[in-house]
Amino acid sequence: MPSNVTNFTDVIRRTPRKLCRAVWESIPGPIVKTAPMRYTGKLIYRNFTRNVLRVQSHYTHFMRNPPLLDALASLLTDFDKGSTLRLASIGCSTGAELYSTLHVLRRARPDLTFLAQGVDISSAVVEIARRGIYRPDAPAAEDGLYQAGRAEVSSKDIDEFRGILETLPDGTLRVHEWLRENSSWWTADATDKSLLDVVGDQDIVLANNFMGPMEDPLAEACLRNIMRLVKPGGLLVVEGIDTDLKTRILMPSEFKPVLSRQEDIWTADPSKRGWPWVRWSYEPLDRNEEGWQFRYSVIFRRVSA
Ligand SMILES: C[S@@+](CC[C@H](N)C(=O)[O-])C[C@H]1O[C@@H](n2cnc3c(N)ncnc32)[C@H](O)[C@@H]1O
Repeated sequence: MPSNVTNFTDVIRRTPRKLCRAVWESIPGPIVKTAPMRYTGKLIYRNFTRNVLRVQSHYTHFMRNPPLLDALASLLTDFDKGSTLRLASIGCSTGAELYSTLHVLRRARPDLTFLAQGVDISSAVVEIARRGIYRPDAPAAEDGLYQAGRAEVSSKDIDEFRGILETLPDGTLRVHEWLRENSSWWTADATDKSLLDVVGDQDIVLANNFMGPMEDPLAEACLRNIMRLVKPGGLLVVEGIDTDLKTRILMPSEFKPVLSRQEDIWTADPSKRGWPWVRWSYEPLDRNEEGWQFRYSVIFRRVSA
């Protein structure tokens, strides 16, 4: 490492993290986007953030990334009228992701039949997903394997989610029957080779926000295992995974990035903010970056067998 870089990393190491972050966040946005600042940000992320905090949680939210769901809906034109589409959410947590996806896709293509499956390593959250009942402002995953995280739905968002949730007499919220039908839920480990036997091959696989906290070798094995689930021509959606790792594995593979709404999708989820200080944050999108098409994409299509 050049000595000026060593000196810089030493200064950061000796300065309290909160102070460094406060200084960084006081820098105006246009300056943060310049090449030297991006370089500095990457240095900070790789040396002080990437390996410090690897915490799994069950955090999920209804309509977590609306542009992503809209982009997926626009890709349904590839499916013939009246056909059946197989969709799986791996690391589904309490089901908000799969139900939100079904809501958007089924509204976009009411003629299609969706066979949906959710898979999670925690049987407690799988049971909650199956029931599809949530309390406003309280996370449903209280007895899960990991931290529950924040609530799936807050009381101020209830009206916005009326298309997905109905209010029961006791004030809880239940996913509409038409969204729950044709969905099944399994407890399974996404790193286990038997995953393909559990869920079978799929037209769309969502694998979001659980490979980021894994150590690199496990995350790599997990992503490769999940890639096997996608049918030729099918779609893989992969968010909340280390950006370098995702790019390294997908670039030489038969998966190609889908670029429509790339930037909207990349910036939509507020939980990805805080770069370079937050482990699961996303760096700002930069089309000068080598392999940017892969680096900043979340949707990938498997182009061949
Ligand atoms: C942060 S939640 C993400 C939920 C949802 N995919 C989303 O993006 O909103 C991560 C979920 O992945 C699950 N998970 C973690 N490791 C897993 C594994 N090896 N196999 C299956 N699920 C796993 C956790 O139990 C947790 O419920």
